[in-house]
Amino acid sequence: MRIPLDRRSHKAVYLQIRDRISRLIESGALKPGDKLPSIRSLAEGTNVNKLTVLEAYSVLEAEGLVHARQGSGYFVSTPPLPLNQTQSTFAPPQEAIVTEQQGGWFYNLYMASLSAKEYPDIIDFSNGFSQVCEAKDLPRVARRAVKQVGDVLFNYDLPQGLLALRQQIARLLIQRGLEVTPDNLIVTNGSKQALSLAIHYYVKPGDWAIVECPCYHGVLAILSELGVRAIGIPMTPEGMNLELLEQYLHTHRPKLIYTVSTLHNPTGITTSQAHRQQLVRLAERYGCPILEDNAYEGLNFDPVPAPIKALDKNHIVTYLGTFSKTLMPGIRVGYMVSTGQHYQPLLERKLLHDLHVSTVSQAIVSEYLASGNYRRHLAHLQTKHLERRNMMLSALERYFPSQVAWTLPNGGTFIWVQLPPGAPMPEICQEALAQKILVAEGKPFFPDFQGYPAMRLNFSLTPEAIETGVSTLGNILKRYI
Ligand SMILES: Cc1ncc(COP(=O)(O)O)c(C=O)c1O
Repeated sequence: MRIPLDRRSHKAVYLQIRDRISRLIESGALKPGDKLPSIRSLAEGTNVNKLTVLEAYSVLEAEGLVHARQGSGYFVSTPPLPLNQTQSTFAPPQEAIVTEQQGGWFYNLYMASLSAKEYPDIIDFSNGFSQVCEAKDLPRVARRAVKQVGDVLFNYDLPQGLLALRQQIARLLIQRGLEVTPDNLIVTNGSKQALSLAIHYYVKPGDWAIVECPCYHGVLAILSELGVRAIGIPMTPEGMNLELLEQYLHTHRPKLIYTVSTLHNPTGITTSQAHRQQLVRLAERYGCPILEDNAYEGLNFDPVPAPIKALDKNHIVTYLGTFSKTLMPGIRVGYMVSTGQHYQPLLERKLLHDLHVSTVSQAIVSEYLASGNYRRHLAHLQTKHLERRNMMLSALERYFPSQVAWTLPNGGTFIWVQLPPGAPMPEICQEALAQKILVAEGKPFFPDFQGYPAMRLNFSLTPEAIETGVSTLGNILKRYI
């Protein structure tokens, strides 16, 4: 491949390489599936450093034009198929679920999802983590981070976390429209710990709490274990049904509203600015704190409104975030934003719980954010997720029966599939498993462990897995509904 370079140009050499290759793709001279020259051969042929070629290929990859295959090099990507359906068909029953919950299942579910990894030939749509999230530059950044902060790492540190990390997180949140300072932040062991600390702070056994219906099952399990009664307010395509919410705020005087406002787990729905404003108004009117869990922040490929916490004038909103979904769940770094009178008691609880998060993990995330690698990594993830979401939507349209509805997420990793009433979910899931397809059944996402027939599909799998998995599931569904 001939790539003419202008060394006197103001344009960086890697961008010149990127532009040339993207023009070749646009013109059709390079076709989907074509292999790009190896990094070494292009570096030698154009007389540039290998890192320059790598940088050009990384930008092309972040733009979705090419993709890397382990050990084989870079290939031109297939453009996503155009979609017929631009509106969500999701239309669930609008009835609240009011329940004393049943606990005890979270451990089994969690262990079952881990054990799926032992079967490499299984197509695992049940996974809670992005299948394209591989920060290849993390080990290099990690080595640098550990060297730089060697002294701190060998000591106990502040319960609220390393100042450098809190400064980086504050910067990130300000860019997302949430004005915070490092003094509003508590770094936690993933957002799961932040959820547990906040829930134990705000509610007592016997209290009522509002959750979205369906809801992240990890929260249902914490509420259940604590003896808190749940009111599941149904989701609409725009978010929690606010009319029903007001009704239950009035009759049951709950002590907490839990919401995943952006890229909701499991539906993928993001609420509008107007929905957020109304939610805060209702919470203020009834004196009910809000716990805003933004575990999938940064994974949106369309713009999203600023967090609900940005509307909070009276310190009624506690905000949670995590690097589990965008970087690495095993690094266990999440955080909580708390303001006003709530900060100190939550901080003291954090200290009592486990003193502080591993300083090694914190230093690595801090360095990854400071170096600009995180921004690049997120751009790459967003492009990949958009491509995979479109592939899955296109496959659902082609293979699923017409009575099935699904959500249209603008990011994250999940599509929520709603099946007609009476669809026999245990049989469908069992049959799918027999054909090596694993899905997350809807039941555990409902406070009564029932809800309506549904399943959550992770759309970030490989194009081949999406095609084979969705067509197989479609055939199964056609036999049962
Ligand atoms: C909505 C939501 N919140 C919190 C978590 C917990 O994530 P972590 O503790 O890894 O940050 C998850 C994980 O699946 C989630 O989906």
